[in-house]
Amino acid sequence: MAAIKIAPSFLTADLGRLAEEVRTVEAAGADYLHLDVMDGHFVPPITFGALVIEAVRKVSRLPLDVHLMIEQPERQLEAFAEAGGDILNVHVEACSDLRPVLEKIKSLGRRAGVCLNPDTPISAIEAVLGEADQIIVMGVNPGWGGQPLQPGTLPKVRSLRALLDERGLAPDIEIDGGVKVNNAASCAQAGAGVLVAGSVVFNDKASVAENMRALREVLATIEAQA
Ligand code: DX5
Ligand code: ZN
Repeated sequence: MAAIKIAPSFLTADLGRLAEEVRTVEAAGADYLHLDVMDGHFVPPITFGALVIEAVRKVSRLPLDVHLMIEQPERQLEAFAEAGGDILNVHVEACSDLRPVLEKIKSLGRRAGVCLNPDTPISAIEAVLGEADQIIVMGVNPGWGGQPLQPGTLPKVRSLRALLDERGLAPDIEIDGGVKVNNAASCAQAGAGVLVAGSVVFNDKASVAENMRALREVLATIEAQA
């Protein structure tokens, strides 16, 4: 099995020390930086926008995985591309017509990601599977870090993986929300190649480096199997 990517999310990090937190996860072996943009409409909280993405861009060379939990994301794509986002992920629930939105992301020279909420079936994105570079299967309802993984997530990832294989398509599958040390291996075995890691990495129980190491260790056991 190819190496599983870990994408730390900063929702439970110390945002007053964001640059330091970025350097710390980078040194601990993060593959992507996952940045959660929330607008107060698509989800109740408001987090940050393109200015913060630009600030992170200045302190890291890692790919920036920008998760747009916003209504009408098509209006903001240029701003997030210019700010330095590498993968721009939009929610199918926020787009009346997904295909042109994914095409626009690619025309900006960025990778196009599409996200599915826990209650949204795979059929909602079936017609655009060939356009997506990445598919985010939400493991929780978006808006907050630290929630438990919803039980329907892994069967959904397995079905999506089977459908992609059947069609000969190879976008990355990312699971976002609810990833813990005790379920990370099952997430990868279900077919996810990228795992977002929020509160499992940024918490007050252990250091970021120790938490990243614990995740890497459980993933190494299954990476070695295939
Ligand atoms: C949820 C966000 C996630 C979240 C993950 O709305 O999109 O990226 O930060 O946090 P954990 O890993 O704590 O579930
Ligand atoms: Zn996210």
